[in-house]
Amino acid sequence: MSASSNAIESVLVENRVFPPADSVVKAARVSGMAGYEALCAEANKDPEGFWARLAREHLQWTKPFTQTLDESKAPFYQWFADGELNASANCLDKHMGTPVENKAAILFEADDGTVTQVTYRQLLERVSQFANALKAHGVQQGDRVLIYMPMGVEGVVAMQACARIGATHSVVFGGFSAKALNERIIDAGAVAVITANYQLRGGKELPLKAIVDEGLSMGGCDSIKNVFVYQRTATACDMVAGRDKTFSEILAGQSTECPPTPVGAEHPLFILYTSGSTGKPKGVQHSTGGYLLWAKVTMEWTFDIRPDDVFWCTADIGWITGHTYVAYGPLAAGATQVVFEGVPTYPNAGRFWQMIERHKVTVFYTAPTAIRSLIKAADSDESVHPKNWDLSSLRILGSVGEPINPEAWMWYYRHVGGERCPIVDTFWQTENGGHVITPLPGATPLVPGSCTLPLPGIQAAIVDETGKDLPNGAGGMLVIKRPWPSMIRTIWGDPERFKKSYFPEELGGTTYLAGDGAVRSADRGYFRITGRIDDVLNVSGHRMGTMEIESALVAKTDLVAEAAVVGRPDDLTGEAICAFVVLKRSRPTGEEAKQIATELRNWVAKEIGPIAKPKDIRFGDNLPKTRSGKIMRRLLRSIAKGEPITQDTSTLENPAILDQLAQSN
Ligand code: PRX
Repeated sequence: MSASSNAIESVLVENRVFPPADSVVKAARVSGMAGYEALCAEANKDPEGFWARLAREHLQWTKPFTQTLDESKAPFYQWFADGELNASANCLDKHMGTPVENKAAILFEADDGTVTQVTYRQLLERVSQFANALKAHGVQQGDRVLIYMPMGVEGVVAMQACARIGATHSVVFGGFSAKALNERIIDAGAVAVITANYQLRGGKELPLKAIVDEGLSMGGCDSIKNVFVYQRTATACDMVAGRDKTFSEILAGQSTECPPTPVGAEHPLFILYTSGSTGKPKGVQHSTGGYLLWAKVTMEWTFDIRPDDVFWCTADIGWITGHTYVAYGPLAAGATQVVFEGVPTYPNAGRFWQMIERHKVTVFYTAPTAIRSLIKAADSDESVHPKNWDLSSLRILGSVGEPINPEAWMWYYRHVGGERCPIVDTFWQTENGGHVITPLPGATPLVPGSCTLPLPGIQAAIVDETGKDLPNGAGGMLVIKRPWPSMIRTIWGDPERFKKSYFPEELGGTTYLAGDGAVRSADRGYFRITGRIDDVLNVSGHRMGTMEIESALVAKTDLVAEAAVVGRPDDLTGEAICAFVVLKRSRPTGEEAKQIATELRNWVAKEIGPIAKPKDIRFGDNLPKTRSGKIMRRLLRSIAKGEPITQDTSTLENPAILDQLAQSN
């Protein structure tokens, strides 16, 4: 059973329904279920006509497209392929000469609370200047640029500048290790790295450039010609002559005007690495036209964004949510957004609420894991409870990244949204580009813990292993049966893996397999996500492959003989990582086991990043295996959860090992 089963049991009995208030329905862009159904009907009647209309209305094309969808190479679908546009022009230039030009694009709040404001005009100038600096250093259209930056204006500028000159960016979250960076640089064949000397989070100064140096020194990175360093703090960092330059050096003398380079709609805007079921992260490749269309449209549908909104998505630009709903969507929509450098618990766990009050945030989008940790903090310390701040500016709340348990949903609804703000529980994935199943704030009656209904044009369904549709009430695999504009185009450098992972032959080869289990409610047909059905874990909304962590553990060749990693439910982080380890030496116990576990955790942090550290490490003389040598993970999942083993163990080679693993902790 999946790790999120507790949450699912409670949502299965969920019968509270929260319809949007009449005033919300009246004012919304997609107004009432009638508005939603009208869009769905248009999309179903003529999908291509629907997407073409949206693409013409929402994007500015330097060369109009003549064909909407090309299915000739399915599942390598192409959208608007003969059209040309530039993503940065669609986020910035298009607002010049309109009332948006001098409005705030970004309200940046630093870790220490300092606020800086950047208007759309200023952002355009900064992006253009940075784009010119990239060009001056030989970065060309089609080149890959790796970005390893803190949250801040500069990270957004770097992404937009790449887009402006047609370079493909690959952002790596600032918490990933030197080794992870090294692998991504090699896989992407990046020509440059954009980084900062340090990042500031929770009052601490954490190195970034030193990790880049270490990553580059691991070898295989000959493609890298330049490292551009933003000096976020006054602390010096090592600079390699000829290769490394500070932002001030490269920006000096560069013009603040840079004509955007038109690219084909299918041109890869970015590659973003994410975890899959094998050890190697996948470089998810997104397009320019279809992706940007979805970023813009979902800002309007899901967040009902308006000119006077202050939007705040708390995700880091290192994740897909920070791409679509920080770096591109809000700008394409001409919104004012808050960008936050720090963490929700510094200087105390009231930081989010304080920031909502301070910036008069109207649309707030965060992850269940953050909500759960802030509930816990507020429960034990009244002074950080949201009731201490004026949150009356809020009108829409959003949730993303993992299932939100109904208890957390209700707290969010009551104490943050004042029982007035709809919660959009947005289901989507790195591969989807933007929301695919979500309520619309002025239309969908809400059910806590359910992401409700697919967006117009998204043919989501639940099927069995043979691809047969399942009736409401029956759990199965979540699929999307028709292509949509912002879908993943391929896995960078591995088209075969793309086909196998997402369009398996068993389902006919053209149905998108999400990798999640889901069930639709009997009454409304609402979707509920029941968690991953593959070897992918979701820890605090961060996606991690069990195999990836296993590979990291066994890479400690002096110590580890074998390792198996599974997830177990965790009240705070959704899932927790649990590793079963067989050492090359005898099985440690007591203090020694604790010491080795700490050593292994630190090792995984170095191999992948601190977010991949196993919470539990259990040592055994062996792992439960079938006679053919296959590790029986379902048994390990039961042990990790502390459940009695009720499954059939007759095919097990070594049943005695189960007791040993259950006892060792
Ligand atoms: O398991 C689903 C979960 O997060 C996975 C995708 O992770 P990632 O590619 O990192 O993207 C996260 C942000 C879009 C999914 O396969 N997930 C995401 N949103 C939800 C969710 N599970 C339940 N409810 C959601 N709203």
